[in-house]
Amino acid sequence: MKAVLPVAGLGTRFLPVTKAVPKEMLPILDRPCIEYVVAEAVASGIDELVFVTARGKGAIEEYFDQAPALEATLEAAGKRELLCEVRRVAQLATVVSIRQASMKGLGHAVLTAAPAVGNHDFVVILPDDIVDAEVPVVRQLLDVHADTGGVVVALKEVPRADTRRYGICAGPMVRPDRMRIDHMVEKPRPEDAPSNLSIVGRYVLPGAIFEELRRTEPGAGGEIQLTDALARMPLAHGHVFSGAHFDTGNPVGLLGAALHFGTRHPVMGPAVRALAAKFAAN
Ligand code: G1P
Repeated sequence: MKAVLPVAGLGTRFLPVTKAVPKEMLPILDRPCIEYVVAEAVASGIDELVFVTARGKGAIEEYFDQAPALEATLEAAGKRELLCEVRRVAQLATVVSIRQASMKGLGHAVLTAAPAVGNHDFVVILPDDIVDAEVPVVRQLLDVHADTGGVVVALKEVPRADTRRYGICAGPMVRPDRMRIDHMVEKPRPEDAPSNLSIVGRYVLPGAIFEELRRTEPGAGGEIQLTDALARMPLAHGHVFSGAHFDTGNPVGLLGAALHFGTRHPVMGPAVRALAAKFAAN
């Protein structure tokens, strides 16, 4: 199975840094954000990735590519550990890139990947959503999908006041952590929201979604919304996942992720914990 990762967004919430650096390349400790979600895909059994990209995002492709000159320099200098690290990243997954020529929304970004995916089930991962979980969230969703078929999305409770930031789902809970979705709406006002269970950026989708996306008119924010196409699919389930979730699409969320992974890091952990304690005391 392939995973589609839309990475064409401008990252306006990180301007001015995103004038020159893709937001997906901003670091959490010593690794770019994008590596965390690629690692999640790989740990879930997916090693073919489709990046939906745009002008100025070349650094992402460079990162997952081999770097012969750098590798030769490290080898000549006897820096074995660094060499392994550089090679490890390039060997994580097979990467294909497709350019999204115009920014028409998430639905349009996913549709852009159609030639690389074909008429097969596939996974969509939104790299802004980073989740630390014992069982990777994509794996959790694939396990549900093996049981239910159809569309499967990751769900999380949000405060009612925040529903206008997310896709919101409603329907009967067929298990404590599983909803059979009969209603999906993108970014509703709190008073119109059918529930407070929001979509987090992980989806298992059938190839038939592309046909639905081709028919989808612009919706919330004037964009072609993936949620609108999903709402017309015959069978959809939501999985209320377990794991710590961070929205790294804004600077404070990114800092939260850095503190989470930093305080747990096998090498940097003690120093990060000491630093966090120092700030907590002030
Ligand atoms: C997108 C989806 C939305 C989902 C969110 C999760 O919104 O359209 O349904 O809840 O991702 O991160 P965006 O964050 O691109 O506005």
